[in-house]
Formats: sequence, C-alpha cells, structure tokens
Amino acid sequence: MTTTPAPAGTAPDPRARPVLTVEDLTVVYEVDEPVTAVKNADLTLHRGEILGLAGESGCGKTTLAYAINRLHRPPARIASGRIAFHDASGDDIDILSLEDAELRAFRWNKLSMVFQGAMNALNPVATVRAQLRDTLLAHRPRMTRKEIRHRSEDVLRRVGVDPRRLGSYPHELSGGMRQRVMIAMAMLLEPQIMIMDEPTTALDVVVQRDILREIVRLREELDFAVVFITHDLPLLLEISDRIAVMLDGEIVELEAADRLYRDARHPYTRRLLGSFPSLSGSRGAFIRTGVDETETPAATATEEPS
Ligand SMILES: Nc1ncnc2c1ncn2[C@@H]1O[C@H](COP(=O)(O)OP(=O)(O)OP(=O)(O)O)[C@@H](O)[C@H]1O
Ligand SMILES: [Mg+2]
Repeated sequence: MTTTPAPAGTAPDPRARPVLTVEDLTVVYEVDEPVTAVKNADLTLHRGEILGLAGESGCGKTTLAYAINRLHRPPARIASGRIAFHDASGDDIDILSLEDAELRAFRWNKLSMVFQGAMNALNPVATVRAQLRDTLLAHRPRMTRKEIRHRSEDVLRRVGVDPRRLGSYPHELSGGMRQRVMIAMAMLLEPQIMIMDEPTTALDVVVQRDILREIVRLREELDFAVVFITHDLPLLLEISDRIAVMLDGEIVELEAADRLYRDARHPYTRRLLGSFPSLSGSRGAFIRTGVDETETPAATATEEPS
C-alpha cells in the first residue's frame, strides 16, 4: 500500500492509518533512587512522515526509542503502556508481547534504528560487505550471493557511498561515511519505520546537511516513516512534518512543525525556540528543497574524503 505523504511540515490526515502508536508508556530505571525516564507517553507515527523528537539532554529521548524497539535492558523496565505496530499488510503487532524470536524477526525488518554514536557501532574487524551480508542472511536466509551483492550495492548507492567501499573496513572510512553505512544498514530490509537517534550530531555541519538531505529524499522515494531524535530544534524544524517536545520524561507538545514554529503552546517549547537566536523569518527549507544560498561546492559532494 502506498500513501501520499502530507505536504512538508503539515499535520498528516488524522484518519489515515498510522504505522505506530505508543500509549501511556512509562519506563523506569530501577536504581537505588528509581528514575522515571519516560512518563505516560502517547505518540502516533503516521506512514511516511518524519516525526522529530526534541528535548534537552537527559529528558528521555533515547529511553523512549529503546523501549519502542524493546532494546531496553535492566535496570530499565517498562512499567506501563502499549506499543502497537500497524503493518502495511493490515496486521497489528503488539510489540511489548512479542516472543524473542518474533522480536528478532521484527527488528530491522519492520523497524530499524540508527543509534546515538552509531558510527562507532560497526564491527571493526569486518568489512562493510560482510556486515551487510550478515544482516541480510539473518533475515532472508534464502537470498542468493548475487541478490546479496545487488542489494548491498544498491543501499550504499542510495546513501551516497561508492559501492567499491564494500571491501573497506570501518577504520578506512571517514566518520560521515561510517554514519552513511549505518543508515544503509538500517534501510537494508526496507523497514516501514526508521528511528534515528542523533544520527548526525558528531559530524560537521556540511556532512550533516548532506546526510539529512539524503534521508529526506530517501523517505520520499521509499515511503518509510522516520522518528528523528535530536536536541537541535532548528534542524528538526527544517526536516520534520511533526515535532514532539519532551521535558523530564513527558511529551509536553506534539504539533505540525510549521504550527509549532509559529504558535508553540507549551512554555518550554517557546523557551526552546527562543534560545536559538538565528530562528527568524520563514521556516528554513533547504534540506527539503535542496536550495541553499550559502551552499558551497563541498556541501554538494556525495562522499567526503576519509
Ligand atoms: N542505565 C541507567 N540507569 C539509571 N538511569 C539512567 C540510565 N540510563 C539513563 N538514565 C536516566 O534516564 C534519563 C533519560 O536518559 P536518556 O538517555 O533517555 O536521555 P536523552 O534524552 O536521550 O539524553 P541525551 O540527549 O543526552 O542523549 C536521564 O535522567 C538518565 O540519567
Ligand atoms: Mg539520547
């Protein structure tokens, strides 16, 4: 099933069937003085949308992302809530009650994640080719060598990495290229949702813009939904359809990006917007449109030197 994404930065049709719903989710770290890192969170992710998740360090963004993927480990515990994945096939999957084997099949296939600091998460002693192949074979054991080669080359091309890099080890790639490989890995099985936790924070701004442009383009091409996590609100205003703002474990505001920019309701969101003096004029759109007056030739390169 394909749906038409809502125009950039506007709210999607609320009648459209979402791809993910999180209801009343509470996650507690059971340490000496328990920390409730996510409090009664409600979230709906629409098919094909980019949902930004903003909030200061320690507000619970990563904890929420891990819980959605059931990647949380003790002392983290899901104290309450429901997380439902609404498959394109029409099935509803209750993520919190999946058995281990079902969960392994679900991850990467339906929902994948690019982790905070992911560029250091590649296996240092395996080539890019081996890492892509292992992920493919773990989920599609009947794939032929030729199919694996084609798919691996295709995902690398899509994220702007020359397929000749398949033979490279992670240390032979620049940080930006490693991050692109992680994004390629997350796209490998064509999931319906990609959760990206600060995927570009460690990169310089030119490489960051380049990768973001790529993500926005891929989303339009392949129609997956993205949860994009960062504390960088101006960046979210540029790329997101809707933005959720978290404060001390609570989602205090969830609004279409243009509406949030013009008319934020929560005092914390207004404070957050006010703390970026460069936020003036119309909502920036160079990443979506590719038009950027400050663009330098380096900003349009698809592959930065290692
Ligand atoms: N293993 C842990 N044990 C106890 N508390 C934890 C643990 N991991 C995280 N926390 C606490 O949970 C809260 C939320 O942390 P989380 O990492 O989800 O925040 P975040 O919004 O992703 O922050 P950042 O922007 O710095 O990545 C913080 O108060 C943190 O101290
Ligand atoms: Mg985090």
